[in-house]
Amino acid sequence: MSKETNRLLGHADEADGIEEYDNPLPDWWLGLFWLTIVWGIGYGIHYHFIGNRSQEAELAAEMAEAELRWPEQARAEIQFAMSDEAVTAGEPVYTQNCAPCHAAGMEGLIGPSFIDEEWIHGGTATDVIRIIREGVLDKGMVAWDGILSPEQINNVAAYILSRHADATGRSMDDIMRDPAESAPADDAAPSGDDATTSEAEPVGGTG
Ligand code: HEC
Repeated sequence: MSKETNRLLGHADEADGIEEYDNPLPDWWLGLFWLTIVWGIGYGIHYHFIGNRSQEAELAAEMAEAELRWPEQARAEIQFAMSDEAVTAGEPVYTQNCAPCHAAGMEGLIGPSFIDEEWIHGGTATDVIRIIREGVLDKGMVAWDGILSPEQINNVAAYILSRHADATGRSMDDIMRDPAESAPADDAAPSGDDATTSEAEPVGGTG
């Protein structure tokens, strides 16, 4: 610690009388300086070779995590589930997002009514979910996929369909049917050779 301090360089006459010291840096300062260098080398070795980390690996890990959190499958398909909870949860979603166009009472405004018998794009749960997700962009119906969560889409569809069923008396079975088999009475005449004639007979006794 016995460093020579306050030694003047002695060139005042060359510098308009300004004197200059040549003091060594304090030990604590130099110590910190060397420590940062040693630390930096150690950190670099650890980061790249021991921890084997890289930004690419980090990105891949984050993408994998996101895949777990928002699985591709949930984005691709929403299994419609109708329940009282879904209907209740769907009401505020409807009020906030859909009522401006479809009206609070669902009688229609800019978009069509949901409480009449008519559906432009089909009235099964599958159809309704599909239109909510994909929208009808050139007609002004928003594609809600990505704006609303899959759950919210399910709930708002449940809310709409339950009001629709209340208003029209349509059965849930009809709403839940597979849209592929919706063609009305097309296959009324069976193609089988020995089709019997008695299909229209009522089942069970009179009630
Ligand atoms: C900016 C106005 C607007 C908003 C907001 C909007 N819609 Fe629509 N919606 C429309 C229009 C317009 C149509 C008619 C599309 C067509 O003619 O093909 C439509 C059609 C639909 C259909 C199909 C109806 C049928 O008859 O087949 C469903 C279901 C639907 N909307 C649900 C929703 C839901 C659920 C929301 C809220 C999450 C919503 N809409 C918000 C404008 C809107």
